[in-house]
Amino acid sequence: MSKPLKIGIAGLGTVGIGLINIFNRHDEIIEAKAGRAIQIKAVSARDKNANRGADLSAYQWFSNATEMAASPEIDVYVELIGGEDGIAYDSVVAALKAGKHVVTANKALLAHHGSMLAALAEQHNVALNYEAAVAGGIPIVKTMRESLTGNEVSRVYGILNGTCNYILTLMEQEGRPFDDILKDAQDEGYAEADPTTDIGGFDAAHKLALLTSLSFGTQPSFKDVYIEGIEDITSEDIAAARDLGYRIKLLGMSQMTDSGIEQRVHPAMVPKHSTIAEVSGVTNCVAVKGDFVGDVMLTGPGAGAGPTASSVMGDLIDIARGLVVPPFINPAKDLKPYKNAKTRAHQGGYYIRLDVVDQIGVLAAIATHMAEQKISLKSIVQKLEEGGNTDKEGATIVMITHATLEQSIRDALAAIQKDGHLVGKPQMIRIEQL
Ligand code: HSE
Repeated sequence: MSKPLKIGIAGLGTVGIGLINIFNRHDEIIEAKAGRAIQIKAVSARDKNANRGADLSAYQWFSNATEMAASPEIDVYVELIGGEDGIAYDSVVAALKAGKHVVTANKALLAHHGSMLAALAEQHNVALNYEAAVAGGIPIVKTMRESLTGNEVSRVYGILNGTCNYILTLMEQEGRPFDDILKDAQDEGYAEADPTTDIGGFDAAHKLALLTSLSFGTQPSFKDVYIEGIEDITSEDIAAARDLGYRIKLLGMSQMTDSGIEQRVHPAMVPKHSTIAEVSGVTNCVAVKGDFVGDVMLTGPGAGAGPTASSVMGDLIDIARGLVVPPFINPAKDLKPYKNAKTRAHQGGYYIRLDVVDQIGVLAAIATHMAEQKISLKSIVQKLEEGGNTDKEGATIVMITHATLEQSIRDALAAIQKDGHLVGKPQMIRIEQL
């Protein structure tokens, strides 16, 4: 039997403790599957005395993660601290430079510094594994890095944030308020330390930037992801979507176009009976279109201690077996510079909700602006506010358009806003026929 693989874990939050729990329960299974023992030798976190509900007495304690990362005591540095810079960045760089393999769940770090870190890992002939960084427990990185490499990929999309999917699902199913459901997601350990990272769409965008690189052989480019979060989705939108035969999901989509790559994260309406609409709660899904394989969709838990730690463990077992592959499939030096597609060239149907003053001529003015942009309406419904009458109170107008260019919708909404009949911001949600 070969020598044990010695690891150091930095970050003892939900995922770190989840990983220790797997070791405690599956020590023998892990050794049998990996062909050698994997031993936790050291741990590091901010506060040594925090009550974490796990016995850490057998491990060497480092108050400085960067010091642990380069320590001769370990072969693999497991980074579960999070954040694109600071201690996470410093410690991962230190580990790679010291010739240690790295396993991380840190999507922000890789979305921002992926090319450089991949080059460093390859230079030192070590692994940089990050299955847990993309869609929690779903084995999508491994699938793309290994199983689907014989394909040219044209599109990758999915539900990439468990917290948002949990919130949207429960808003529809239970009609509970947004903040209340977010609190549940935090208690369950799904949400990021700062939940605006989740609900603002940034966490999904980090993951999408990595999927884009794996799909198209380009350097990860987070700054080129168009991002909208779910903060402005109201119960009214959820109900209108349901009445119209759709569900609202926070979608991440990356596709190759004639002018370059389009990466976007935003709420979208998907047909209620589509496979993606059925992905509910904290579950994520990732769909890849390859030229030979066709459409592949993987579904599973996207967040939480067990699923995320399960992915970390899979990465560790790969290293124990001696499997080291380039982090982004192609060698880092061969990753192409990212080229962005023309913006706002997205073409599709749109849901539009306008809260307007209820006056004669408002609907006609709106219809005129839509016609000016050559936007064809599929349906239009006007509802008076509760207790409203025809000349004083507000009204809500909900429209569904036929396929049109995003820029035309934006121009029409700008013209409608200029007329001064709107109360608040117009709502626009893209409709995706997936
Ligand atoms: N906060 C993330 C989510 C966890 O809700 O999906 C994994 O990135």
